[in-house]
Amino acid sequence: MTELSLRHGEGWRMDKLIIRGGAPLRGQVEVSGAKNAALPAMVASLLTEESIRLHRIPQLGDVRTIIGLLNHLGVSVEGRGQEPISLRADRIDRFEAPYQLVKTMRASVLVLGPLLARFGRARVSLPGGCAIGTRPINLHLAALEKMGATVSLDAGYVEAKAPRLKGARITFEGQTVTGTENLMMAATLADGVTVLENAACEPEVTDLAALLNRMGARIEGAGTPTISIEGASHLHGAEHEVIPDRIETGTFMVAAAITGGDVTINRCLPYHLEAVTEKLRETGVLVEETDCSIRVLGDGHVRGVNIRTHPYPGFATDMQAQMMALMSIAQGSSVITETVFENRFMHVNELLRMGADIKVVGTTAFVHGVPTLSGAPVMATDLRASASLVLAGLAAQGITTISRVYHLDRGYESIEQKLLGLGASIERVAEH
Ligand code: UD1
Repeated sequence: MTELSLRHGEGWRMDKLIIRGGAPLRGQVEVSGAKNAALPAMVASLLTEESIRLHRIPQLGDVRTIIGLLNHLGVSVEGRGQEPISLRADRIDRFEAPYQLVKTMRASVLVLGPLLARFGRARVSLPGGCAIGTRPINLHLAALEKMGATVSLDAGYVEAKAPRLKGARITFEGQTVTGTENLMMAATLADGVTVLENAACEPEVTDLAALLNRMGARIEGAGTPTISIEGASHLHGAEHEVIPDRIETGTFMVAAAITGGDVTINRCLPYHLEAVTEKLRETGVLVEETDCSIRVLGDGHVRGVNIRTHPYPGFATDMQAQMMALMSIAQGSSVITETVFENRFMHVNELLRMGADIKVVGTTAFVHGVPTLSGAPVMATDLRASASLVLAGLAAQGITTISRVYHLDRGYESIEQKLLGLGASIERVAEH
C-alpha cells in the first residue's frame, strides 16, 4: 500500500499558480488525449490476459491514480510517462479497489465490471461524498444485479460476486457515463446478449466500445441510448488511440474568448464540441473549424448567454464552470442552470472574490457581467472549478494566485506550458 500511496502522491503536489492577467492569448495549441477516454481504456486491459497498447494517454494525476490502482491489482504497465503505454493483466492477484484511491477518483469504480466479468468477484470502496455532489453508484450496482451478480455492502466496500454474468436487458433510471462503461465492459464477457437502454451517449463511451470491439467484443449502438453487447468467452489484445480531450479543447476555446485573443486548437474533434461552439458563437466570438482544428477569435467583448447543462450532445457539465468565468465579464446577464450534478457551483465563491457578480439559487446561477475582474488569491476546489479560476485569472487585471492546483493537475496535461506557449503570464511555484 505504501508504494501505491507514494505513486498516487506524485499527482498531489501542493503547488500554486501565479497568473498576471490581461494578455490576449494568441497562437496554436495541441490538445492531449481525453482523460475520460483514457481511464476506461486503461481499465479495459483487465478484460484480457493479452497486452493492450494505448496511444495518446495524457500524463495526468488521474492517469497516475489509475495506474496505481491497476498495478495494485497486478496489471503490469510499461511505458508510463511516454507514448504509447502497454498494459497486461496476466497476473491479477487482487480484486479490490481501496478507499484511498476511490475517494480521490471516482472513476476507480470502473474496475468493478471488468473484475467481476473475468474473475467472478470484485470489492470496491464506496465513493462517499464528493465536492460536486453525492455521486452514488447505485445505477452501476442495480445493473450488475440484473446480470446475476450478488452485491453486498461490507465496511464501506461493495462486494460483488457472480460465477458468470448473464446477459440482460437493462434500462438505466438515469444516464450515467461510467455506469454505461462499467456495464458495457462487464457484458463483453457475459453469457448471452446484454441490451443497455438509456445508455450515456458521450464520445468517451463510443471510444471505449471501439477499443472493446478491437479486443474481440461485439458491441453495437455505442453513441446512441441503446447499446447491445453479445458476450464472448474471452477477449484478446489490441492497439488503440484515445480520442482528443473535448473538455480541454473547450477550455482553450474559452481562454481565447475571455482574453479577446486568437487561438487555434489543433488535433481536436470539433464535432464533439458543437454545443460549446454554438454558445460561444452566440456570445459574439468568431469560431472557425476544420476537421481537426478550431480557431477562436475574440475582441474582448462577449454577450451574456443562457446555459443549461445536459448529457451529450447537450452542453457538458464539465464546461459549465469555464463558461461561468466567461459570463462574469460578459455584457448583460446570463442564467446558468446545472442539471447533471446538484452541487457544482464551488467556483462561484472564488469568482466573487475576483469581483464577479453571481447569485446562486438552487441549481441556477444568475450571472451579471462586470466590466473587469480583479486578480485575487483563490483556491481550487475541484477539477473544472480550477480551470474556471485559471480562465478568470487570465482575463483579470492584476495578479491571481490559485492554490491547491493538484485539482487542475488531475485533468489538464502541461496546462501552464500550453498557456505560456500562447503568451500567458503564468508561473507555478511550490506552496508553503
Ligand atoms: C463522468 C465523467 C465526468 C462528468 C460526468 C457527467 C468520467 C471519468 N467522468 O462522471 O467528468 O462530469 O460523467 O458528464 O468519465 N448517478 C447516480 N447513480 C449512479 C451513477 C450516477 O445517481 O449510479 C448520477 C450522478 O450523481 C450525477 C449523474 O447521475 O448526478 C451523472 O453522473 P455520471 O454520468 O455517472 O458521472 P460520472 O460517470 O461519475
